[in-house]
Amino acid sequence: MKAQIIDGKAVSKKVHEEVKAEVEALKKRGIEPFLAVVLVGDNPASKVYVRNKEKACAKVGIKTYTHRLPQDASYDEVASLIRQLNEDPSVNGILVQLPLPDHLDEKSLLELVDPAKDVDGFHPYNLGRLLSGNPTVKPCTPLGIMRLLDEYGVELKGKEAVVVGRSVIVGKPMWLLLLERHATVTTCHSRTADLSFHTKRADVLVVATGRPKMITGDMIKPGAVVIDVGINRLEDGSLVGDVDFESASEVASMITPVPGGVGPMTVAMLLYNTVQAARRQNGIED
Ligand code: GUN
Repeated sequence: MKAQIIDGKAVSKKVHEEVKAEVEALKKRGIEPFLAVVLVGDNPASKVYVRNKEKACAKVGIKTYTHRLPQDASYDEVASLIRQLNEDPSVNGILVQLPLPDHLDEKSLLELVDPAKDVDGFHPYNLGRLLSGNPTVKPCTPLGIMRLLDEYGVELKGKEAVVVGRSVIVGKPMWLLLLERHATVTTCHSRTADLSFHTKRADVLVVATGRPKMITGDMIKPGAVVIDVGINRLEDGSLVGDVDFESASEVASMITPVPGGVGPMTVAMLLYNTVQAARRQNGIED
């Protein structure tokens, strides 16, 4: 194995410490950051994510409460909870855990979240601000990836960056954040005709497809920086990414592991976004 491991756990700890210091400073001013989580149904992965977020909030002193609604909760029930949280002045951040059960219209429910409390950065207003080059809040996973690249001194200006995946949560905002840093960015997806033609050109390759080990070493340019967003549980219970770590780490210069790469950074940036939301709501400038 040649590639250097990009240690998301270590960098996330650093972010936790920074956030903790900000929380303490806010508390001295009488402000207690508060994140409200909405969890609908019993998706096992969502339950694990929410528990991790609760634990992380507790560590840095952010108050949190998870509103749990049953799998068959109606649109109106979820909508009225979101409206109630929007109006509650003690709530600084609202996170609606995705995916929602199939019968609920995810897009229209996310639009109900007050953009000022949208700590995921999924509201069209916040995505629009990001697109227009005047961002307020940036989605947690792409933001965490940018922090990892910066911590490891990865140059982006003028580089070829390839993002595999076009979700609103990761792929699309990732494209924008890389573009903002002057990379030449290509987005690939399930209909891309010749995926490895593109991935082999990437100096920085970000993979967010949800398909276990789909990117193999032969699809990677020697010396590339590889960021694996996937978290897939195999039948034997093991966790793997969207990149085949064994073969990829023979070719890449740096690579994120799964677990311990991007995952902890997503949670860390949620904490960061929550504190920033609390600051803005209290008129504290960046
Ligand atoms: N489900 C998977 N990733 C995320 C995320 O970053 N935020 C929310 N709210 N739900 C998710």
